[in-house]
Amino acid sequence: MSEIKRIGVMTAGGDCPGLNAVIRAVTKTAILKYGLEVVGIKHGYRGLYLGGDNFVKLGLNDVSGIISKGGTILYSSNKDNLFDYDYIDENGNQCHGDRSDVGVENLKKAGIDALIVIGGDGTLTSGRDFSRKGVKVVGVPKTIDNDLASTDTTFGFDTAVATATEAIDKLRTTAESHSRIIVVEAMGRYAGFIGIASAIAGGADAALIPEIPYDINKVADAIKANRERGKDFAIVVVSEGSKPLGGDVVVSKVIENSPDPIRLGGIGNVVANQLEELVGLEARATILGHVQRGGSPTANDRILSTRYGAYAVELVMQGKFGNMVILDGNDLSYDSLENVIGCNKAVEESSYWIQAARSISMCLGD
Ligand code: F6P
Repeated sequence: MSEIKRIGVMTAGGDCPGLNAVIRAVTKTAILKYGLEVVGIKHGYRGLYLGGDNFVKLGLNDVSGIISKGGTILYSSNKDNLFDYDYIDENGNQCHGDRSDVGVENLKKAGIDALIVIGGDGTLTSGRDFSRKGVKVVGVPKTIDNDLASTDTTFGFDTAVATATEAIDKLRTTAESHSRIIVVEAMGRYAGFIGIASAIAGGADAALIPEIPYDINKVADAIKANRERGKDFAIVVVSEGSKPLGGDVVVSKVIENSPDPIRLGGIGNVVANQLEELVGLEARATILGHVQRGGSPTANDRILSTRYGAYAVELVMQGKFGNMVILDGNDLSYDSLENVIGCNKAVEESSYWIQAARSISMCLGD
């Protein structure tokens, strides 16, 4: 007999399309296949700390119809690390320290036997740390950035690429009408997956990604060569973490208490201004920003999220704790959270994305 009767599920970190589809799959598999109870923990680790009405029972009706919805019915928070936490003590004093024991206690009080944590690097780091404390944790890899180690794909990435591609299609028509260079800044933190994928799909002239430091003169030369062939506009996709040869990333803000306090952003304007000067065409920058995280998940993300959620419950039932669900080719598998944390993935030169871009002589700034 399995000792698992009630499981908890939470979403934490930046949201992304497909979170609700995972929550639905977890809930349906747990209830219908294994007769378990499911408790949703609202607001990520903050809800785990605060307990009370942040713990809500999830039934089949609660997850009905949510597969197509962006965001998360459980809400999220991206700056609550209970192992390094700002809190107010019983005397009203502002304090700082490790409050993870409160989270463990709240799980015990709620009778939660295992916890499914849906998140990216920061969220899963805490997941691993709770696992080290004896909590039965299974992770599900979420992020539009697709930069988590061990898994081939994170859910949310496909939707972000589709959104960025649609934006590029729209920007192309206005770039062409006005003979402008349009620089499109994509998200992705220190990885260029969204940038390179949307540049290929959107037919961009150039793609600048963090993995390949760029020489702005090379980008300008590529646009000038196109002009000589009669193309008087250009689309340049730049990932937010890109940097020039010998230069550094552009930081937009620093968020104290966040597991990763640096927020990137602003490189699009830098590149647009430089290209305007070097090429002699008017340039504009569009920062796609959080639109890439919103909206309804693509069919592929809905399917992947459903597979991930269902498989996370299977891992719980098999007692495979301390692991994250992964996609290996087309197959589901798992890897230890210990192997995932702190080893972010990058776009490799040998990847099919770079090969495709180089085959059609897309300028990559090198
Ligand atoms: O990790 C997802 C992501 O959207 C990154 O692509 C981006 O750099 C970051 O989160 C933005 O974070 P925030 O929502 O805190 O501005």
